[in-house]
Amino acid sequence: MIRHVPKGDASLDARRLGMGAAPGKVILFGEHAVVYGRPAIAVPVACVQATAVVEVAPDGEHFTIEAPDIGQSWALDEAPANDPLALIVRATFDALEIAPAPPWTLTIRSTVPIAAGMGSGAAVSAAIVRALAQAAGCALSPEQVSALAYQGERLHHGTPSGIDNTVVSYARSVYFIKGQPPQPLTVAQPFWLVIADTGVRSPTRVAVGDVRRAWEADRPRYEALFDEIAAVVEEARATLAMGENARLGPLMARNQALLRALGVSSPELERLIDAAQRAGAQGAKLVGAGRGGNLIALVSAERAHAIADALREAGAVRTFVTKVGEPEDL
Ligand code: PMV
Repeated sequence: MIRHVPKGDASLDARRLGMGAAPGKVILFGEHAVVYGRPAIAVPVACVQATAVVEVAPDGEHFTIEAPDIGQSWALDEAPANDPLALIVRATFDALEIAPAPPWTLTIRSTVPIAAGMGSGAAVSAAIVRALAQAAGCALSPEQVSALAYQGERLHHGTPSGIDNTVVSYARSVYFIKGQPPQPLTVAQPFWLVIADTGVRSPTRVAVGDVRRAWEADRPRYEALFDEIAAVVEEARATLAMGENARLGPLMARNQALLRALGVSSPELERLIDAAQRAGAQGAKLVGAGRGGNLIALVSAERAHAIADALREAGAVRTFVTKVGEPEDL
């Protein structure tokens, strides 16, 4: 039954204690190599986002996590240690020195595709941290939000670089090197991307683990590939700063060839990358962990929707068109 809630329902407002949100992200250049200390460039994607709302618990006793998108609800004190959402809640309460957990209900919703290279785990974590901090009356800096969200990333990824939690917590385009403060990325000329989902779910932990095993078996080859990816990232950074966007397409193609050599592309990704190029994209590559998930295609504003249509005809289950380099992203 749909309950009609009149605007400004005082009982709802009185129950709400805090709210947090975080966008999705795509890595423009440098995924995987970033885990091994090379730089990467990533941008927030505001058309998808995770939100978390904290309310007074109806029973006035237990802290409960609700995830209506997946039809689940569970009590914090019954959640196992490896529950990623409970882990973030506990880490945030530890950081805020709140114990025991207050009788609150935390409701999480997200439109960021899961296991698809768009930073869904990090976005959910950052939204939770922000909502809990607001409910507790604390202001956290983006750096503090990012550090807490990183703890969730470790559970999702195994050995995360930290780029996902950084981009979604700062909600800014960044040039990122693991272990260093993020540097703002200059995008002199905005550009358009089509983001297309293969529909193949690919957990980051699996792809990152496979690359690690391959690296352990043949370090010289993988280190050389990571160095080549780093060179692409540096060129891309300079290109973006100078607004020479025509050079970005070939750089994406070079990055994609290197990701293929790392073993993280897939037939579905390759097919959609070809389809994007045939429809007029200037370049395309997978984003995030690969093996499935999403790709990005660099497009002109005029062709963006036609290329998105072509990608769906070629099998993409979902497409987004997004503009990168708006002042609020920088
Ligand atoms: O697939 P995502 O959105 O979780 O991105 C992973 C990015 C990697 O570089 C493959 C891993 C990392 O920790 O940076």
